[in-house]
Amino acid sequence: MGVVSLKEQNSNKSSIQTLVDLVAEDMEAVNRLILSKAGSNVDLIPEIARHLIDSGGKRLRPMLTLAFSKMFGYQGEGDVILAASVEFMHTATLLHDDVVDESDMRRGKLAARKLWGNQASVLVGDYLLGQAFKMMVDVGSLEALRILSEASAIIAEGEVLQLGAAQDTATNEAQYMQVIEAKTAALFAAACEVGPEICDMGAEKRAAARDFGMSLGLAFQLVDDVLDYGGSTADLGKDVGDDFHEGKITLPIIYALQRGSDEDRAFWKRCLEDGDIKDGDLEHAIGLLKSTGALDDTIKRARDFGAAAIAALGKLPDGAQKEALREAVEFCIARVN
Ligand code: IPE
Ligand code: IPE
Ligand code: MG
Ligand code: MG
Repeated sequence: MGVVSLKEQNSNKSSIQTLVDLVAEDMEAVNRLILSKAGSNVDLIPEIARHLIDSGGKRLRPMLTLAFSKMFGYQGEGDVILAASVEFMHTATLLHDDVVDESDMRRGKLAARKLWGNQASVLVGDYLLGQAFKMMVDVGSLEALRILSEASAIIAEGEVLQLGAAQDTATNEAQYMQVIEAKTAALFAAACEVGPEICDMGAEKRAAARDFGMSLGLAFQLVDDVLDYGGSTADLGKDVGDDFHEGKITLPIIYALQRGSDEDRAFWKRCLEDGDIKDGDLEHAIGLLKSTGALDDTIKRARDFGAAAIAALGKLPDGAQKEALREAVEFCIARVN
């Protein structure tokens, strides 16, 4: 199995480039808006926001909003504004998530909380969320506002649900799926659904866009959870092994627990439940995740959701957008190849 080398992925045929090219012009406008709305007379706000915004990120979610608006021929500026709101919601979530997860790195740099502290990170995350909702109001679609505000509440619910499941090795696959659907896939789904919504499409097109985003979001988080053990810090821009140190019960762990010996289960409980982690334990954990096929089978689940996302595209109009979205699904999965 090749979960380790992300270098190989770069030569892989799956690329996000088609989507990037398709929405390039609008993304420039999105990035300009993001920078202007990250401003404030309170200097610490742009300082912290720019630290994270300027370190990049894939900008996957706003590109989805733009592609799904273009797919239905949107004319106007609402798509750009909603795309910027979606990225702000994501940025706010990252600021908050790194505090909750006590993560040290994000997008290849020190996490904001390491530089400015937890309090400032949480508050600037709140500011960005507020800005996101102000922008949504500017668009004037009450329905888009409903879709995105619902996602915002669900993300928080997912993070709280995850908090309750942390360090509990009795967590099952269904509970894990519920967490990732809420904390990650809900925003992907909403980012896609607002496209047909602002183009006044009916329920069927909106549902297909939403299904696409939901399945892609699930695949994306499954892959991210594999990379937390099988990736490299240099490629991810965040520390490998964070989930292990937090005692996060992700699908690879659930599979390894089911398949391990009594001795293996005692090891997982010591590390994840008791938080008693010694030198070499992460390497041992990665060995177990590989030898039990836990990482491989998690990748299989991600592929299934990737296939479901592509199937959802079947109900949507053919064209350049659909092709770019199909390739984007493959790109998200190929992060582990
Ligand atoms: C990180 O999302 C949070 C997860 C859902 C795993 P991304 O991997 O899309 O983060 P950036 O925006 O590219 O940094
Ligand atoms: C991703 O959670 C989803 C959110 C940020 C809400 P993770 O905690 O798994 O993401 P990373 O690994 O920190 O990016
Ligand atoms: Mg995290
Ligand atoms: Mg993660």
